[in-house]
Amino acid sequence: MSGSAPTELSGRAEKLIRGRHATRAFRPDPVPEDTMRAIFSLAGTAPSNSNAQPWQVEVVSGAVRERLADSLRAAHATKRTTTDFPYSEGMYSEVHHTRRAAFGAELYGALGITPDDHAARAAYDAESLRFYGAPHAAFLFVTGDGGARLAADVGAYMQTLLLAMTAYGVDSCPQGLLSFYADTVRAELGLTGGKLLMGISFGHADDAAPVNRVMTERAALEATTTFHR
Ligand SMILES: Cc1cc2nc3c(=O)[nH]c(=O)nc-3n(C[C@H](O)[C@H](O)[C@H](O)COP(=O)(O)O)c2cc1C
Repeated sequence: MSGSAPTELSGRAEKLIRGRHATRAFRPDPVPEDTMRAIFSLAGTAPSNSNAQPWQVEVVSGAVRERLADSLRAAHATKRTTTDFPYSEGMYSEVHHTRRAAFGAELYGALGITPDDHAARAAYDAESLRFYGAPHAAFLFVTGDGGARLAADVGAYMQTLLLAMTAYGVDSCPQGLLSFYADTVRAELGLTGGKLLMGISFGHADDAAPVNRVMTERAALEATTTFHR
C-alpha cells in the first residue's frame, strides 16, 4: 500500500485483529487459570472516560457454569426475560437490516437451517444459552448509572477482552442474547447491582464444526468513514 508504513507491530495487529472471529461451537476442555488471569488482566487496560473503568466482570466455569446454563434454559422455557438495556428491532436502520440479513443467511446456511424455519432458529437460539458448549463465560456489567457513556466504556473493554483472548489462543463468542436474562444471571451469581450488557462464551473452538467456518464481511471503508480535510 503506497504511503503507509507497515511496522512489525502493525503486521501483528493486522493478524490479531483480523484473526478474531465469533466461535459458535466449542470443545469442553477448560482454559488454564493462569491463562485466564493473564487475559483478564490485559483486558483491564482498556481505555475509559477519565479512567473510571466502569466494568464489573463475572467469569463462570465448572459447576457454577452448569447451574447457570440450566437456569438460563429454565428462564427461556418460561419466558422469564429481563433486559437492563432496552432492545427493539426498530433501533436498526435500513442498511443495518440489510447487513443483518446477509449475516443471518450465512449463519443459518452453515447450520443447514432454511430462512423460513423459525422453529429451528428458535431452537438454535435456546441451545446457545448453553454457551455454545464453551467451558467458560464472562458477563460484563456496567456499573454506576449504567448510562450510554458508561456502556460505551464497557464496549471498549469487550473488544480489548476479545483481542486479548485471541492473542492467547482462546476463542470466543460475544452473546447479546445472554443479556436478556439479566435477573437470572444476577440471582445465580448472588449479585445485586450492575447492568448486564453482554455475555461472552470462551474456550477452544471445535474446528470440525461447519458453523465455525462462517465468515463475515464488512462494509467498504468509504461507507462508514470520512476523512475531512
Ligand atoms: C454486541 C454483540 C452482540 C452479539 N450477540 C450475539 C449473539 O447473541 N449470538 C451470537 O451467536 N453472536 C452474537 N454476536 C456475534 C456477532 O454476530 C458477530 O460479531 C458478527 O456477526 C461479526 O462476525 P465476527 O465476530 O465473526 O467477525 C454478537 C456480537 C456483538 C458485538
